[in-house]
Amino acid sequence: MITGTPGQQLQRIKIFDTTMRDGEQSPGCSMNLEEKLRIAEYLDGMGVDVMEAGFPIASVGDFEAVSEVSKVVKNAKVAGLARSGRKDIERAWEALKHAKQPRIHTFISTSPLHMQHKLQMTPEQVHSAIIDSVSHARNLCDDVEWSPEDGTRTERDFLCRCVESAIKAGASTINIPDTVGYTMPDEFFDIISALCNRVPNIDKAIISVHCHNDLGLAVANTLSAIRAGARQAECTINGIGERAGNASLEEIVMGLKVRQDLMPFDTSIVTKKIIGASRLLSSVTGFAVQPNKAIVGANAFAHEAGIHQDGVLKHAGTYEIMTPESVGLTQSSLVLGKHSGRHAFRDKLEQLGCQLGDNAIQEAFVRFKALADKKKDVYDEDIIALVKDEMTHAAESIKFSTLHVIAGSTGPQKAYLEMEIDGVICSQESTGDGPVDATFNAISEIVPHSARLQLYQVHAVTEGTDAQAQVTVRLEEDGKTVNGQGADTDTLVASAKAYINALNKLADKRSKTAPEMLSA
Ligand code: KIV
Ligand code: ZN
Repeated sequence: MITGTPGQQLQRIKIFDTTMRDGEQSPGCSMNLEEKLRIAEYLDGMGVDVMEAGFPIASVGDFEAVSEVSKVVKNAKVAGLARSGRKDIERAWEALKHAKQPRIHTFISTSPLHMQHKLQMTPEQVHSAIIDSVSHARNLCDDVEWSPEDGTRTERDFLCRCVESAIKAGASTINIPDTVGYTMPDEFFDIISALCNRVPNIDKAIISVHCHNDLGLAVANTLSAIRAGARQAECTINGIGERAGNASLEEIVMGLKVRQDLMPFDTSIVTKKIIGASRLLSSVTGFAVQPNKAIVGANAFAHEAGIHQDGVLKHAGTYEIMTPESVGLTQSSLVLGKHSGRHAFRDKLEQLGCQLGDNAIQEAFVRFKALADKKKDVYDEDIIALVKDEMTHAAESIKFSTLHVIAGSTGPQKAYLEMEIDGVICSQESTGDGPVDATFNAISEIVPHSARLQLYQVHAVTEGTDAQAQVTVRLEEDGKTVNGQGADTDTLVASAKAYINALNKLADKRSKTAPEMLSA
């Protein structure tokens, strides 16, 4: 068993973030280009070693996202996913070729179940496809990662043989996915140990692991694999991903940091950026984090029981195994009031890490003044929501203008809405079953569409009845899902903005068609 001793040299575990690829495969989590770019820049600043930006052959949107992310990322390697076919691999390379450090990640299933039922290929055919795909990828790109999909349910001798051949063909990272989240930690330890002991050329590659959370064991399995010899962990912010999700980045990173006494490893993640990453992702996807989620949940550092509060006041270590500051949590601070000037506002934006150009700062300042007039106390979270809202709606071709609503217990509830479409003001009066319904009906009458409302969610940005509302609206059209966001002290205005934002995103999606259906 590996244990750490004081003063011992720590081995580096590479963090491979797949929030923009596997994370995006969560139903309702799709992100547009601008959102992926914001996430990519944040992840790059946070210190991830590799970020998987998408599956280039999946759609024009995915291709563009990988290509644009490749152009902006400065420090991390950028990976694009590809099945084993040559067309997939070439499309991935085409998207990645501008990256400073590109990586092609190619995969094929190796378990009996997947080979027989999904691929309808024999083990020999799969083995040949591995050699062909990895060699082809390696001819295009120096850095190739190969994954045996459903690796943990693959027959052990065949897994060792495939891994050896992939390394021989040029893969320098071998990623073992627990695709269906089936494995137990001890079992995964044995699988990784077997690869280390039985594959003769394993020293020429880094072993990576990619765990799904169907039994709630994704992080435990990842840590177990690291103890057995894996040196790259694939994970996502907030643990989003297919079905029950992927191993969560923040839990792996903090697990390694907090328990260095047991595990002599570290990562290059700037842990103070963890909360920011979690909040950025939630606001982009509209997926709220469960309050009791480890590290990033709203209650992760809250102490309710009197006996705990008393202990924490006497010594934080009594009930806290890491400090809230170490993951970037700070007390909500009262920032500015209606008398605060431009200079103080600009300083605050800098402190909060909001990088805006001069014009955008000016516009945000005007909105801040309006907010300070409506709201007694303006907090950091208010400023962040305001800036995000400004960025979300800046480039829209359909824009919210004004809304006046008649609500109350005696109907009908009515909405008078004005919107601007490509510079032209359009107005509509509609009734509905409640003020939100009336508002959405007015929007639909101005912009007719066939999208279905899948989610309508309201969060208060801070406490108090004057808090800003952050609204998420999820729309679905022809199997494509988008999340719209809006923030305002008026919940109905925030709702209208969120709905309009979703319609803008759908229009964007309609212009990009998916050439192929994918099964990964
Ligand atoms: O879960 C999985 O098997 C995957 C592979 C494509 C790596 O996401
Ligand atoms: Zn996966």
